[in-house]
Amino acid sequence: MSEQEKLIVPTYYHAINWNNVEDAIDKYTWEKLTSQFWLDTRVPVSNDLDDWREKLSPLERDTYSKVFAGLTLLDTLQSQDGNLSMIEDSRTPQERACFNNIIFMEAVHAKSYSTVFSTLLSKSEIDTLFDWVDTNVYMQKKAEIVNHYYQNGTALQKKVASVFLETFLFYSGFYTPLWYLGNNRMINAAEIIKLILRDESVHGTYIGYKFQLGFNELSEKEQEDFRNWMYDLLYQLYDNEEKYVELLYDEVGWTEEVKTFLRYNANKALMNLGQDPLFPDTAADVNPVVMNGISTSSSNHDFFSQVGNSYLLGEVEVMSDDDYDI
Ligand SMILES: [Fe+2]
Ligand SMILES: [Fe+2]
Repeated sequence: MSEQEKLIVPTYYHAINWNNVEDAIDKYTWEKLTSQFWLDTRVPVSNDLDDWREKLSPLERDTYSKVFAGLTLLDTLQSQDGNLSMIEDSRTPQERACFNNIIFMEAVHAKSYSTVFSTLLSKSEIDTLFDWVDTNVYMQKKAEIVNHYYQNGTALQKKVASVFLETFLFYSGFYTPLWYLGNNRMINAAEIIKLILRDESVHGTYIGYKFQLGFNELSEKEQEDFRNWMYDLLYQLYDNEEKYVELLYDEVGWTEEVKTFLRYNANKALMNLGQDPLFPDTAADVNPVVMNGISTSSSNHDFFSQVGNSYLLGEVEVMSDDDYDI
């Protein structure tokens, strides 16, 4: 070794070392996230076409489509801005890696609704739907409030905004596919929602945990002030969400039960953040059909009958030179 090579230079860039993990939760989360990997294109949504055409009224199809358009906007926000804004506040290199994984999966989520649309709707219907969501006042307001904190908030505020979006605001939309799943209709599209829900449950827990690490470092007074801000934000979002729910669900008559479901999930979001629940609603108040659907434990995969229509992992083989003969 030459004299020059023996020189020790100050380190300015660290190689990520997964054998020296500072926070075991990072490693656990990475393993959980990667074990849940899925792709929208592997779920046979076309099997829902008969239900869509024969068992849903035009009003139900309209509500269903708008719900999915709303969810598309939220997952777009998560994949393009939400997680990207939080990655810079990572405490460990392994946390950054987890966020990289989450960003990719959010892009899969956002794309998966388009897979459902392309199966069920015509191109002009899809275009109309995207115009609707991109100009809907309540959808835009909720995206604007949340994104304001992604762009300008502190590390803790960004995490609260993200957990509120994922554990609370998503559920005004998730209600519909879960309701149909509970009634044994549109079960393949619901399978996509269950896969998304399973991911969001990990994201909410993980980001909530990272939030609590930072929150616990605050003084009592700072915690009190922060808590006030947090509950104010929740009220502001709930107020907007009530109007969105009324717009979406008044005609089908589900408004009140969706609001109950929302309040129940708002409490869960607060729980993820280590805070006390705000609303009196519990699981017992939610429509049991929807609670059945929400169970994120995976049903058995049954490829042949698709009775248990959970996601099937593809078989993997090593690539050969032939694979490049296109
Ligand atoms: Fe997502
Ligand atoms: Fe997420």
